[in-house]
Amino acid sequence: MPGRVEGKVAFITGAARGQGRSHAVRLAEEGADIIAVDLLEPIPLAPYAASTQADLDETVRLVEAQDRRIVASRADVRDFDGLNAALDEGVAQLGRLDIVSANAGIGGITPSPAEELAEDVWRNVIDTNLTGVWHTVKAAIPHVKAGGRGGSIVLTSSEAGLRGYQNIAHYVSTKHGVVGLMRSLALELAPHMIRVNSLHPTQVDTPMIQNQETWTLFTGKPDGTREEFGVVSGSAIPLPIPWVESVDVSNALLFLASDEARYITGVPLPVDGGNLLL
Ligand SMILES: NC(=O)c1ccc[n+]([C@@H]2O[C@H](COP(=O)([O-])OP(=O)(O)OC[C@H]3O[C@@H](n4cnc5c(N)ncnc54)[C@H](O)[C@@H]3O)[C@@H](O)[C@H]2O)c1
Repeated sequence: MPGRVEGKVAFITGAARGQGRSHAVRLAEEGADIIAVDLLEPIPLAPYAASTQADLDETVRLVEAQDRRIVASRADVRDFDGLNAALDEGVAQLGRLDIVSANAGIGGITPSPAEELAEDVWRNVIDTNLTGVWHTVKAAIPHVKAGGRGGSIVLTSSEAGLRGYQNIAHYVSTKHGVVGLMRSLALELAPHMIRVNSLHPTQVDTPMIQNQETWTLFTGKPDGTREEFGVVSGSAIPLPIPWVESVDVSNALLFLASDEARYITGVPLPVDGGNLLL
């Protein structure tokens, strides 16, 4: 039986680990070839370790284990020319582009009230989480249009893109901005049968949140643990879970990328266990 995205090519940013790696593997399982990029270097003031070349190599191994092709390289979504060159090379090798997952993002950068956020901290988050998403689609749209077969663009926002949170106004602002970009693109690209939607996960079990600083922030204890964090995190989620897994977000991406969602565009889709209901 053919896969749900058989023969298509997907471009995924932030694909070395976490949700991006999961997206690459899940789409490959369903028949897509992958163009993967990641920064692979430390993120200033991030409370978690950077992804590495070894992480990206593991994504390559997992996609190739599905008998799919992957073109993986280092690129920074803040640098349009470098990102564009990496995507051009991927399309040259794989021959087309149908699916875009603008997934790369940073979080947990110096939480503080908005009036205390430093200029460089604000800019850093905006540059990656909002301008980086715009760069991703700006580079990708000409390739998807050129195929003449339509396509699916999925922007990773957050449930923080649909409501406010104290002390992370920079992150919340970027994730709301992604929704505005998604809605505008959905209108611009509809005549080309290119659909644009956004994903809004609650806490996802990835290095972005599974680190001591985040556990401490959520639990209020300097030595707060993953388990204690899970209890606090889960108290904001109606389903009895501490967080969602990357594959849950990947399954939503897969649906939006597939022809099963052929008339779905302009939709912000929560993957949040009901978090937004509270
Ligand atoms: N983990 C969560 O709880 C959660 C919840 C909601 C939304 N999100 C969003 O999901 C997306 C994926 O995050 P994750 O949870 O997989 O975190 P992660 O830190 O495990 O993965 C993010 C990847 O993006 C890459 N990246 C960061 N800046 C980049 C840049 N400038 N250029 C290219 N790549 C860059 C990182 O190197 C990393 O490999 C992000 O947009 C994040 O904001 C995460």
